[in-house]
Amino acid sequence: MLSGKHILLGVSGGIAAYKSALLVREFVRAGAEVQVVMTPAATRFITPLTLGTLSRRNVIIEMFPSGSGEQERQWTAHIDCALWAHLMLVAPATADTLAGIAHGFAGTFLAATALALRCPLAVAPSMDVDMYRHPATQENLGILRRRGVHVLEPEEGELASGLVGAGRLPEPAVVCRWVEGLLAPPPQDFLGRHLLVTAGPTHEPIDPVRFIGNRSSGKTGFALAAAAAERGAHVTLIAGPVHLPTPPGVHRVDVTTGREMYGAVMEAFPQSDALIMSAAVADFTPAEPSGRKIKKEALPEEGYALALIQNPDILKAAARSRRRQVLVGFALETENGLENARAKLSSKNLDLVVLNNPLEDGAGFGTDTNIVTLISAGGNAISLPKLPKADVAHRILDAVAPLIS
Ligand SMILES: Cc1cc2nc3c(=O)[nH]c(=O)nc-3n(C[C@H](O)[C@H](O)[C@H](O)COP(=O)(O)O)c2cc1C
Repeated sequence: MLSGKHILLGVSGGIAAYKSALLVREFVRAGAEVQVVMTPAATRFITPLTLGTLSRRNVIIEMFPSGSGEQERQWTAHIDCALWAHLMLVAPATADTLAGIAHGFAGTFLAATALALRCPLAVAPSMDVDMYRHPATQENLGILRRRGVHVLEPEEGELASGLVGAGRLPEPAVVCRWVEGLLAPPPQDFLGRHLLVTAGPTHEPIDPVRFIGNRSSGKTGFALAAAAAERGAHVTLIAGPVHLPTPPGVHRVDVTTGREMYGAVMEAFPQSDALIMSAAVADFTPAEPSGRKIKKEALPEEGYALALIQNPDILKAAARSRRRQVLVGFALETENGLENARAKLSSKNLDLVVLNNPLEDGAGFGTDTNIVTLISAGGNAISLPKLPKADVAHRILDAVAPLIS
């Protein structure tokens, strides 16, 4: 599976460094060429001799190796390594090394190489449960994910410290399969298909400076658009007000209000094969938004009631005018999730509902991961584990692909 691939394996100083020997063997067996790069701390856990022997290449550790000649030979080695690689995997990735890469520190050969890469970077965090859960580590992982770094979630279980929780490096075979998946070209199962994806919140104006909105970040919808484009689809992304970069190859239409989103969806819907409504469209909008900023003095001191009217239901309207299109809705539920999602599925005549609960740890708005259940028209429910939003997007598309064809 990895035949001819150049894998740069960065090993940092965590207890799971002992697994890197088996990881090298897995990669070599799968046909890859492996160059191991270690942090000085990693050499306290496993010897360069072991990793060099298994990889059949000298392990690189120091930025400034001692001894003349050697120093000259290696002065651009981190750049050469970075350009040589088809993928760099840091496994185990310590809290320290993750922080360094996230914040651009290039103090070790490993971190300097990670900054110089032109190929994908993947990291497998491994540490004690409290170090892993610490907001600093989680924020660093968030920074890396937002930059497109692939993060392998650590497994839960008994840790070297004796504590139980998340932080274990998955077994080498699992890590190797994951890397194979990252290097495999995405399936082109949406080639020639037109996908319409909505994302983000809507802002419903009260006056020119105030609005009613919600906390949707748009990340799931943007991940869906990116994944569909990677899989060959022609993608129209209708985005509410969010500050996210447009994924490559995606046609983006920016809107602000629910009514504008309704108009944009209805215009593009007839030409599409599927509509994925991940946007959090406001159900209600102010009945009479003011054309001028409402002055506090103009309002009664005891408060006032803002009259709201219903926004058009985009999914219902799409279901009424559909010919062959697949319809996918999202259900954000904090209680009775399955029941409410199934009710939405049938009342709106959908093919698939993606259910999630924003109150769960690692799910919902703003996070880089999500925990969703996919409920299909037959009532079948598939619960996915906590996954990065990019992976959730691919799993949703895996469920949509057979419905289209
Ligand atoms: C016995 C022992 C085990 C350690 N295991 C881990 C670990 O699993 N994960 C981690 O992030 N740090 C671990 N540390 C701390 C790191 O070794 C330390 O933060 C070091 O500075 C990391 O350097 P590096 O990121 O440059 O490799 C451990 C330290 C010791 C002494």
